[in-house]
Amino acid sequence: MTPIPENTLRNAAARRGLLVGAAVDSDALTTERDYADVLAREYNAVTPENVMKWMHIHPDRGRYDFTAADALVTFAQQHGMEVRGHTLVWHSYNPAWLEQGSWTRDEAIAELLNHISTVVGRYRGQVGQWDVVNEAIAHDGTLRDSVWLRTIGPDYIGLAFQFAHDADPAARLYYNDYSIEAPGAKQDAVFELVRSLRDGGAPIDGVGFQGHIESVTAPSEATLTASLGRFAQAGFAVAITELDVRVSVPANETMLTRQAAVYQSVLAACLATPRCGAFVTWGFTDRHSWVPAFFKRRGEALPFDTQLQPKDAYRALVKELQ
Ligand code: G3I
Repeated sequence: MTPIPENTLRNAAARRGLLVGAAVDSDALTTERDYADVLAREYNAVTPENVMKWMHIHPDRGRYDFTAADALVTFAQQHGMEVRGHTLVWHSYNPAWLEQGSWTRDEAIAELLNHISTVVGRYRGQVGQWDVVNEAIAHDGTLRDSVWLRTIGPDYIGLAFQFAHDADPAARLYYNDYSIEAPGAKQDAVFELVRSLRDGGAPIDGVGFQGHIESVTAPSEATLTASLGRFAQAGFAVAITELDVRVSVPANETMLTRQAAVYQSVLAACLATPRCGAFVTWGFTDRHSWVPAFFKRRGEALPFDTQLQPKDAYRALVKELQ
């Protein structure tokens, strides 16, 4: 393992007791040496961007493919990084056999149990945190339609947490969602959901704030601090789990300066919240980011540029940690 220079993001974060992570593109990790080097040098946590999702890890009924997920977990272990598992239960990126199967409620529960106990069990003691249920609430605060809601009903959420806990009692278990950074119907619904889960005995530890935000409409530091605090004061751990700050492209200096200020304010809100233990960005280099493919004329959303050179956003993060 190459020695880590003093003034990296991960060193600055470690001094504050914070996990600083990035979602990892597994193809890039295996084919681009500079990508792997910067990741190991700068981050002390990783999230698999796609390879632990159901479609990837459990492509056929009864067949799991752990190749890419294992490789990432091994990489993390070699470089002293925590793994945030992502994600066990989601309405999206499911294989056809699951989505199109006609399941009775009991059969669906059996499939859910099989999946969660197999995946969490494989990484027991190696994946410290799991996004157990991802994006179960719709924008208006209702439960989002999914194969799980249709077959099992609302109980699927509590069952998923229980199955994950049974498979690895030491793992910290999160509900993860987007557009909850500012108050509103969705944040209220997520708050009620996690509180009722906990009150009902479900083993839920925390709430992940994804944080896919647009630079010019980003919530203020005060808003975000209040939002994180709302959950933390109710006894939940919180984490920034998928931050990226998209700008109009090609970006000019003014936009990148503003983007850096947004990154800094999100980190400041996390640091101001005692129960905020992880700050994770959705990728780390503009070379690999979901943003340009999903948002018209938006991109350059991450702290390193396509050449893996640090941007203003990176410097702002290190400064905030110091
Ligand atoms: O694997 C195929 C590859 O074989 C093929 O060549 C390529 C051609 O387009 O597609 C590849 O699959 C794509 C995959 O990303 C890997 O690049 C899928 O089509 C594409 O749908 C998938 O998108 C991912 C998306 O989740 C759906 O799983 C994004 O990379 C990923 O960033 C995004 O992540 C989500 C979080 O999990 C949850 N929160 C929101 C976040 C952003 O949407």
